[in-house]
Amino acid sequence: MSSLCHTSAVLVFFMALAVGVGAQQSNERSCDVIGDESSESQMERALLKKLEPLSQMRFNVTVEKGKTENYVYHFRVCREVNSTLHDFGGLVQTDRQNGKTTVIGRINETQVFNGSDWIMLIYKGGDSYGRHCSGEKRRAVIMISCKRGVTASSFSIISEEREKEQECFYLFEMDSNVACPAEDSHLSVGSILLITFASLIAVYIIGGFLYQRLVVGAKGMEQFPHFAFWQDLGNLVADGCDFVCRSKPRNAPAAYRGVGDDQLGEESEERDDHLLPM
Ligand SMILES: *[C@@H]1O[C@H](CO)[C@@H](O)[C@H](O)[C@H]1NC(C)=O
Ligand SMILES: *[C@@H]1O[C@H](CO)[C@@H](O)[C@H](O)[C@H]1NC(C)=O
Ligand SMILES: *[C@@H]1O[C@H](CO)[C@@H](O)[C@H](O)[C@H]1NC(C)=O
Ligand SMILES: *[C@@H]1O[C@H](CO)[C@@H](O)[C@H](O)[C@H]1NC(C)=O
Repeated sequence: MSSLCHTSAVLVFFMALAVGVGAQQSNERSCDVIGDESSESQMERALLKKLEPLSQMRFNVTVEKGKTENYVYHFRVCREVNSTLHDFGGLVQTDRQNGKTTVIGRINETQVFNGSDWIMLIYKGGDSYGRHCSGEKRRAVIMISCKRGVTASSFSIISEEREKEQECFYLFEMDSNVACPAEDSHLSVGSILLITFASLIAVYIIGGFLYQRLVVGAKGMEQFPHFAFWQDLGNLVADGCDFVCRSKPRNAPAAYRGVGDDQLGEESEERDDHLLPM
């Protein structure tokens, strides 16, 4: 009775913990795709769910170009980099020379789509460009490629395209196993059959062994199920093999058979006898 109490106390504790963690997570704002709750794309929602394991990680990449450019980019998957500094900022650039930060993309304007082994995550609604790109809002494009065995790695920047009139973007890439297609079962029909067969044999041997030992009361080798039958079969197979595989006739000169004869036990000597008439 007391152990039952104990168990339920532990259970309650873990449930409280789970609720607490859940509440804490829901405090953070997450990716929002175009449309209201009802009109959101099901595909986008499925993909956001797939990306969820990455949401607690923080990614950085530093870019140094000559003396003028020294930036670090902070990126989070569907979470704000720093909610006190920037509303919804999912990818933020910091100028290391003066500490000035610029939001490249916001998670409340997310677009996401996928191919067979990649996911494209786009944050729009970043801070506006000044002179470049007709002063439009910045946009971050993050290509996530499939790499099995790693939760997330090698976040890096590919390019900053801003010498255009419109539709400028910052391009990033990273590797993750969340972008990988579901692994299909490696078990082919053949291997399933093989496993079933092996299991049946194991059941046969163990079951038969127990039956012979406990019910019949057999001892030694006799404990194997159908021992006499398998012994006969073994001999038969050996004979067949002997007949098919031996390239020299049985009555070949003794010199050829010397080695084999030394190794044969008494039993096989006896067995050889009834072969002779053949
Ligand atoms: C990225 O930077 C943040 C804050 O500066 C830090 O907490 C985090 O550990 C860094 N992540 C990596 C992978 O370096
Ligand atoms: C967010 O920015 C504020 C102000 O710069 C800073 O004090 C705080 O440590 C930052 N939080 C994180 C998680 O980087
Ligand atoms: C996303 O958040 C930013 C900053 O709060 C806001 O200016 C913008 O209108 C929001 N975008 C959408 C689509 O709600
Ligand atoms: C995209 O992801 C969805 C959901 O995981 C998956 O069903 C679909 O096959 C993926 N699309 C492609 C082209 O592989």
